[in-house]
Order: sequence, then C-alpha cells, then structure tokens
Amino acid sequence: MKPVNIAFIGVGCISGIYLENLTKTFTGVKILGVCDLIRERAEEAQAKYSIPKVYDTMHDAFADPEVEIILNLTRPYEHYAVTKAALEAGKHVYSEKPLGASLEEGVELMELAKAKGLRLGGAPDTFMGAGIQTCRKLIDDGYIGTPVGSAAFMICRGHESWHPDPDFYYQYGGGPMFDMGPYYLTAMVNLMGGIQSVMSASRTTFPERMITSEPFAGTPIHVNVDTYIAGTVKYESGAIGTLFTTFDVHYPGQARFEIYGSEGTLYVPDPNCFGGPVMLYRPEEKEIRQIPLCFDYAENSRGLGLADMAAALRSGRDARADWQQTFHVLDAITGFDRSAKTGQWVDMQTKYTRRPAMVKPVLKGQLD
Ligand SMILES: NC(=O)c1ccc[n+]([C@@H]2O[C@H](COP(=O)([O-])OP(=O)(O)OC[C@H]3O[C@@H](n4cnc5c(N)ncnc54)[C@H](O)[C@@H]3O)[C@@H](O)[C@H]2O)c1
Repeated sequence: MKPVNIAFIGVGCISGIYLENLTKTFTGVKILGVCDLIRERAEEAQAKYSIPKVYDTMHDAFADPEVEIILNLTRPYEHYAVTKAALEAGKHVYSEKPLGASLEEGVELMELAKAKGLRLGGAPDTFMGAGIQTCRKLIDDGYIGTPVGSAAFMICRGHESWHPDPDFYYQYGGGPMFDMGPYYLTAMVNLMGGIQSVMSASRTTFPERMITSEPFAGTPIHVNVDTYIAGTVKYESGAIGTLFTTFDVHYPGQARFEIYGSEGTLYVPDPNCFGGPVMLYRPEEKEIRQIPLCFDYAENSRGLGLADMAAALRSGRDARADWQQTFHVLDAITGFDRSAKTGQWVDMQTKYTRRPAMVKPVLKGQLD
C-alpha cells in the first residue's frame, strides 16, 4: 500500500508523540510536511524526523496536491477554522479533540465533510488501545452480564503546573469536560453504546488561576469556562452513567472508571492512556481479578486513529475515529453545558453506532 501523505498544522506540546509514532510505528503513513505559526517548531521537527517540507502557512499545506490528510494539532479554539479551511481545500482531516469548540462548529464541519465526500475524524484514539479494547471484549463476551451503569471521575488541579502555555485550557473550547471528557465519553460509548440524553451541574470554582510552569510562571489566567462539572448520561440501552470532570481538586493518582453489570463489575483503565490494568470482579470469585490485555497498543500510541483513517482511506472502509464518533462526543459535551445552564435534560442530536472492534494484526503498526 502506498503510504498516505500527512501534513501537520501545529507542532506544539503534543506533536512530539505523533511525530515519533507516525515515523517509527505506523507504516501506512508518511509525514510530508509540517507547519506552525512559530516556524522554529516546524523546522526543529523537520530536522529531527527528516520531514521533506516546512510550509509557511497552513494554506500552503492545503494547496499542496501531494497532501492527503491534514493533522490538526492546534488549540481547541483554533480547531474549527483550521479544519474548515482544510476541508474547503479538499483535504481529509484528523483533528485533536474536541472536534469543535461548540455544537454549531461541529455541525458545520460535519456537514462540510459530508458535502465534499471527505474523511473527518479525530482524537482521542486511546479507545483503540489494549486497555479499552480488552474491556470491550469482556463486556461483549458477557463477563459482567448486562451492563446497567458506569461511573467515571477525572479529578485534577488543572494543567497550569506543567503545560508550557496552559491558558487555552481555561478559554472557549477548554475546561475539563472539553479537554478530558472526550477520552471518557469515547470510551463510554465504545463500551456501553450511544448516549440518548445528558444532564449536569457545573461551576467555575476559581475565576483566576496562576501559571506555575515555565516559561509563563507567575502569569495569571482569567478563567472563562466551568471547571467543575458533574454529569449524568442516559445511554440508549437504558443504562445510566456518571461522568465527573474537574480542574479544581487536589487528588493523588487516577480516579476510578467502572462499569457495572448484572453479573459483575469491570474496572476500566485510565482512558487517557492506551493500556493500564483491567480488573474484573465476579461475586462467585470473591476477589478482584486482573485480566491480561489481549490487544496491541498498551503504550502511548497517539497517531493510531490517524493511521487507521489512512488505512480506511486506501481500503474504502469506515475509519474508527471518524466524525460519527467525535461528533457524538461533542454532542454530549456541549449537552452538559446546555443542561447546566437550563437545569433540563438535553437530548442528543445524533445516534451512535459503536465503531468496529480492533483486529490484532500479524505485524504491529499495520491496520486492517
Ligand atoms: N499537551 C498535551 O498533553 C495534549 C494531550 C492530548 C491532546 N492535546 C490536544 O492537542 C491540541 C494541541 O495541544 P498542545 O498542548 O500541543 O498545544 P500547544 O499550544 O503546545 O501547540 C499548539 C500549536 O499550534 C500552533 N498553531 C495554532 N494555529 C496555527 C495555524 N493556523 N497554523 C500553524 N500552526 C498553528 C501554535 O503555534 C502552537 O505551536 C489541543 O487540542 C489539545 O487539546 C494536548
């Protein structure tokens, strides 16, 4: 298969792991060019990974006839403009999460991609990793009986202590539900099926925060988003889910993500990661048992979703991390927002069908 040519828009904090995996692990893609508003970032990546081209602007990448998929690694409030311009120029797009910073942005991008017959999808791709895929197999094979509910908690004190430029986490398109919610919601719908409606309560606990990471240590952040969001979801199946995300709380380690079934309970690993321990409790065993992971990609495999989209492009099948999924997740995230403002349940605008389970390839890095 001829590798699919990719161009990066945005070569910031998260780009390193994509550059690493797309050049070393996934054989079906080739990074043709990189572009960043801060040109040195693109030039550094070019030198380190022997990338053929650095584009002056994103429009130069969109105009390059050799580029097939644009990888949008800009900040959440920039996703819409970059993805829209790429689609308008006739390129397929894989975007970091969230798909857009509002439901309206997501609708417009989805409609544009459909009208132009282009692929659109994006992060997270952790649901394709060994941890969530093993959980899915356990559920599908009946190990917890009929799922009746799920509970997930993402608790931390925010990203201003480590990210080099963390302001965007507290602006339009940011906040813990837009930033971390996609990992949890994507895992939830892949394990439990589509969401019918959502409800939530939320608050902004600290209207001003202080950056403690370099190079902006001591700079205040004016918070323009909710940072403590307690959500409830009703799945199409009738099961009930809880999702709590916050940037306001000191909490050591990783909070729980559990799925409750009529015959047992599943302890799901952190959906921000690809692997992690999968634990199963069945009452007759009287103890929690660790289940071996039975799929590839337990290590940080960011780029897996893009590699899957590239393989899908060549074979004509659906991509796993496509807009049907990223849009349903955006539907839920923005639904939490609307519910918090109105105090009402919010019905989802989209129906979701679980994406195909992963297939274990003969050679790692190849996608079906
Ligand atoms: N940092 C992480 O750990 C992390 C983890 C997972 C996902 N993400 C997601 O990845 C995305 C990027 O996050 P980040 O932490 O790398 O942000 P960042 O601020 O470090 O990098 C974003 C980069 O995009 C560039 N950019 C913005 N608009 C551009 C344009 N029009 N043309 C070219 N370059 C442009 C900026 O100059 C910057 O270098 C976000 O959506 C974030 O949610 C980040």
